[in-house]
Amino acid sequence: MNPILDRNKLNQLLNAEEQLFHKNHPKSYELYQRARKSLHGGVPMLWMIRWAGSFPIFVKEAKGAHFTDVDGNDYIDFCLGDTGAMTGHSPEATVNAINEQIQKGITLMLPYEDVIWVGEELQRRFGLPYWQFALTATDANRFALRMARMITERPKILVFNYCYHGSVDETLIVLDEEGTPMSRPNNLGPQVDPRFTTKVIEFNDIAALETALSARDVAAVLAEPVMTNIGIIHPEPGYHEALRELTRKYGTYLIIDETHTICAGPGGYSASFGLEPDFLTIGKPLAGGVPAAVYGFTEEVSQKFSSRLDVDDADVGGIGGTLAGNALSIAAMKATLQNVLTDEFYSQAIALQECFTDEVESVIREFNLPWIVKRLGNRSEYWFRSTPPKNGGQAFAAIDHELDRYMHLFTMNRGILMTPFHNMALISPETTQADVDYHTKIFREAVQSIVG
Ligand SMILES: Cc1ncc(COP(=O)(O)O)c(C=O)c1O
Repeated sequence: MNPILDRNKLNQLLNAEEQLFHKNHPKSYELYQRARKSLHGGVPMLWMIRWAGSFPIFVKEAKGAHFTDVDGNDYIDFCLGDTGAMTGHSPEATVNAINEQIQKGITLMLPYEDVIWVGEELQRRFGLPYWQFALTATDANRFALRMARMITERPKILVFNYCYHGSVDETLIVLDEEGTPMSRPNNLGPQVDPRFTTKVIEFNDIAALETALSARDVAAVLAEPVMTNIGIIHPEPGYHEALRELTRKYGTYLIIDETHTICAGPGGYSASFGLEPDFLTIGKPLAGGVPAAVYGFTEEVSQKFSSRLDVDDADVGGIGGTLAGNALSIAAMKATLQNVLTDEFYSQAIALQECFTDEVESVIREFNLPWIVKRLGNRSEYWFRSTPPKNGGQAFAAIDHELDRYMHLFTMNRGILMTPFHNMALISPETTQADVDYHTKIFREAVQSIVG
C-alpha cells in the first residue's frame, strides 16, 4: 500500500476517469455491447477485458507507434501488443514481405529456402547451433521442456516465483506467504496439480536453487534472464554465474526465455551478457506481430534428442504444430530480423528509453514520491515502492491495483496506452522524442492530481 495517498480522493478520481472514459468511447461501448452477444465476455481473448476501462477500446487502425480507435481518439502506443508489436505496428519491410509471400503460398508442411536464412540468423544472434519453429512462445517453452525431460528422464522442472512463460501448465505455480508452493490462484482447470511437476523458488536465491537442484530430479530450469512479468527484476551480481554453474553441476538443463528480454539487444539479454543456456526460447515480436516463435539448443541437446526420437512418430510426440514454420511466418521473420530488429534500432530505442526513464524519474523527484523506475533496454516500468524488489514474492506484495488502474486510465483517457497488468512502456522504431515528452507531461499531471 502506498502510504502517502489519500485513498478516498483516489477513489473519487478513479470514478471521474471512468466517466470520462465512457464519454470518450461511445462507439467502443456500442461495439462491446454487440460483441458480448457472440464473443464470450465481449472479447476474442480473455485478457482483453483486463484493461483499466470497464470495456475494451476497439481499434480502427495502427501504424508505427500510434493507433486510432473507432471513436477517432489517437494514442501513442507504449504497450505495443505487450511486446508482440515492439517492431512498431505493421513495419514496412515486414508488410512488403508478407504481401509478396502471400501470393506464393502460405503453408505447406514443406520448407522454403528462406527458412535457412532465418536459422543462420538465429545462430548468429543467439549463439546456439540448432533451431526449431513454433507459433507462440508458450509452445516454444512447452517443446523445450519436453525435450529436456525426454533427454534427462527427470520428471520435474524448476521456475521462479511469479514468473510468466505463457500458458505452460507446469509454470502456473507460486509460493504462498509461508513459502510453500501452491497452484497459482486462478490456474484454470490444470490437468495435474503443478506441485507434482514443478519446483518453485525465489529469483536471486542461490541457496534455494542449490537445494532444489541437488535432488537431481529437475530436468530443466526455465527462466527469464531478467524477470519482466511481475515487473522488471534484475539478477543480482553473480546470480547468472551461479545459475549456470549449479545447473551444470546437477545435470539440469538451463532454458532461457528471451520473449520479453529481447528488449535488451539484438541477441536478447543472453548475447548482451554472455549467458550460455542449453535452450533459448523466444516469440512475440520476431515476425513483426505475425505468429512466430523459435527455440534453439546446443549440439549436445540436438544429438541426444535425435538418438531418442523415433521419426515415424515425430508427428504425434507432443512437439510440433501443423502451421509451425509456415511460409508466411518465415517471410515475416526474415524481413523483421533483417530490417526492423536491427542493431541501429536497438541503439536508437535504448537511448530514447533512457530519456523516458530520466523524465519519469525527474517527476518522481519533483513530487518527492517513494516510487522508482526500472529499465531493461528499450523497456521500462514505474513502481509504486521506494526500493527495487529482489524477487517475485516481494514484487507481488508491492502491487497496488487501485493506483495501477488509476494511472492506466488517466493516461489512456489522454491518448497513451501503457502495458496492462503493470505500468510498462516499450519504445518502437517509430516512437519519437515528442511521444516520450508527451508521456512525461501526462504522467506529471496524473501524479499532481493525486498528491498535488
Ligand atoms: C517471458 C514470456 N514467455 C512466454 C510468453 C508467452 O507468449 P505467448 O502468449 O505469445 O505464447 C510470454 C507472454 O507474455 C512471456 O512474457
